Amino acid sequence: MIDLCLQLVCFIPQGLHICQDTIRRESTDLLRSLSTEAGRSHCSRNSIEVKVELTLLEKDKEADVMSPNGKASPFSDCRPNGALGHCSDEDAAAAPLRLYKPRDYVEASVCHVKDMENGQMREVDLGSGRALLIKEHGEFSAIGHKCPHYGAPLVKGVLSKGHVRCPWHGACFNIATGDIEDFPGLDSLPTFQVRVEKDKVIIRANKQDLQSQKRSKAMARCSAVVNSSTGFSHILIVGSGPAGLVCAETLRQEGFTDRIVMCTMDKYPPYDRPKLSKSLESTAEQLQLRSIDFLQAHDIELLTEKEVVAVDVKAKAVTFQDGFRMEYKRLFIATGSKPKPLNYKGQDVRNVFHLRTPEDANNVARLANNKNAVIVGTSFVGMEVAAALTDKAHSVSIIGIEAVPFRKALGEKVGKAIMKLFETNRVKFYMLNEVSEMVGHHGQLKEVVLKSGKVLRADVCIIGTGSGPATGFLKQSGVHMDSKGFVPVNKTMQTNIDGVYAGGDIVTFPFPGRSNKKVNIPHWQMAHVHGRVAALGMMGRPTEIKTVPYFWSAMFGKSLRYAGYGEGFDDVVIQGDVDELKFVAFYTRSEEVVAVASMNYDPIVSRVAEVLGSGKTIRKRDVETGDMSWLIDKGSQ
Ligand SMILES: Cc1cc2nc3c(=O)[nH]c(=O)nc-3n(C[C@H](O)[C@H](O)[C@H](O)COP(=O)(O)OP(=O)(O)OC[C@H]3O[C@@H](n4cnc5c(N)ncnc54)[C@H](O)[C@@H]3O)c2cc1C
Ligand code: FES
Repeated sequence: MIDLCLQLVCFIPQGLHICQDTIRRESTDLLRSLSTEAGRSHCSRNSIEVKVELTLLEKDKEADVMSPNGKASPFSDCRPNGALGHCSDEDAAAAPLRLYKPRDYVEASVCHVKDMENGQMREVDLGSGRALLIKEHGEFSAIGHKCPHYGAPLVKGVLSKGHVRCPWHGACFNIATGDIEDFPGLDSLPTFQVRVEKDKVIIRANKQDLQSQKRSKAMARCSAVVNSSTGFSHILIVGSGPAGLVCAETLRQEGFTDRIVMCTMDKYPPYDRPKLSKSLESTAEQLQLRSIDFLQAHDIELLTEKEVVAVDVKAKAVTFQDGFRMEYKRLFIATGSKPKPLNYKGQDVRNVFHLRTPEDANNVARLANNKNAVIVGTSFVGMEVAAALTDKAHSVSIIGIEAVPFRKALGEKVGKAIMKLFETNRVKFYMLNEVSEMVGHHGQLKEVVLKSGKVLRADVCIIGTGSGPATGFLKQSGVHMDSKGFVPVNKTMQTNIDGVYAGGDIVTFPFPGRSNKKVNIPHWQMAHVHGRVAALGMMGRPTEIKTVPYFWSAMFGKSLRYAGYGEGFDDVVIQGDVDELKFVAFYTRSEEVVAVASMNYDPIVSRVAEVLGSGKTIRKRDVETGDMSWLIDKGSQ
């Protein structure tokens, strides 16, 4: 137990009550929440001044790092308690947190109050690092300046109604708390204190937070007495992709204190799958999203190389391939996609890959080195791999069933322009064609024969002809699936079976952007959203999907960004120069913009996502004029 006495002079907005000047608590969470509040601006007339004193007991003064909460390991004993446990605020506050000394902070006057307009963001240097200073509704706040996902400069993002949206892939962060409010990404941003003195804006920031630029949300620990060999978990998550991982983390963030087991067929802890096709040589370790240590520290048990082969919803149990059986109270199924098989002669020829794992990607990169690579299919995965191989392989050929790549997803004009980009990078296309045979020599691929009769020399082949849901193991389970194997879920991600939830690539879900029609959106970002919604549903706190689908691709150092749901678009309105690959394309359906794609036009896609996310409709005529001032009239500088 430590005595904390806060020596802070800050303005606290009215409505926030602090009962005592001296506060006795087991953790420093209060410090965090106070600094979050204090991190907001103090110009508001409604603000009042509150003085809180902090002193540390002598024995705690030198402690840089608080010891963990001292709870016994949750894996020591087993007594599943049946009811799903939620921790109290007190428990959550007991999460291990650091104590800081004054020298851990840096303080700097960064600008004059009048230097910034409302709705502006500015990256400011504090000497030990940079922060993002924001002025909205007359209030200043300061948060980390780099998106914790891939490090985009948030100053180039979109500020709107209390959050900033990342310019690259659309993640949103609350400007008062730094919390991540929309995905992709797992972490939140640090917040820094801001005060105004004699019209000068002063930021006080923890140096470590300035360096790391990210923060994991506080998480509860497991307090159920559990034995790891026990075949029971309060929540069993099948799949450790983004849907499974975000589900597990959300449960802990929201105070769930019972056992969570997450299983995967993969060898590794969760990793960044989208990078597989863009950065072929990255190892599983480099792609890792969360380490084993991180998962253990938050009592998320991970079972690797553990394939579920059957689910028995009556007995509430799953069976693994090795015969192990595990019962559950709630089940979340997030098994993602699996490549669609391709029909051709020579299925046993080696060096033909689908891209699902880091080994696949590493093998492709190795085998293509100075050799001939053939890609079958013009999906995003196939095209990204082709682009990534051009500076390694002797030759890169793409076989496509359509006349133009991406025609269905992005329209003919955009597809043709991207095709040209590939051709100028010496990629050869064999369109309106299909594979008839893979020919090997001593079992190793040597030629790919096309239905047209053309023969391509090939040392490695990557099949990227699309994927379907990995739900074969659910066939006899009673969990409803549609004719394509997708699992329909309701708004809270629950399947037709009570207590069985599903999310990510395998589901069709009611999408508010299409009048709640059930759709499948196999995006990295959407899987995160599903994981969160399912976790809250399983905790008995149902919430609905509130997001704008966001997708991206990268080829030859150029990024394509896409937001919305363009399925069934009937026209494309293009602004900018599509041949120069500096454009924005609006996809419309019956006079309404349903999606947008862009290259070299940031942050337009995030701006459109912001408008669509606010529930507003964008009409075709709004984008036909070419005047996009209605989109660009506010935001960053
Ligand atoms: C190469 C590649 C590149 C991509 N690039 C992008 C991109 O740039 N942008 C984008 O938005 N999306 C991209 N995607 C799509 C994105 O990765 C998926 O939408 C996302 O991973 C889906 O998440 P998920 O959680 O549903 O499933 P997944 O991430 O597919 O994870 C599924 C998990 O389930 C496990 N599993 C499967 N079956 C079983 C079983 N029977 N028993 C136990 N565990 C099982 C798997 O081992 C894995 O852990 C890409 C996909 C690939 C393959
Ligand atoms: S870098 Fe910000 S969402 Fe990806």
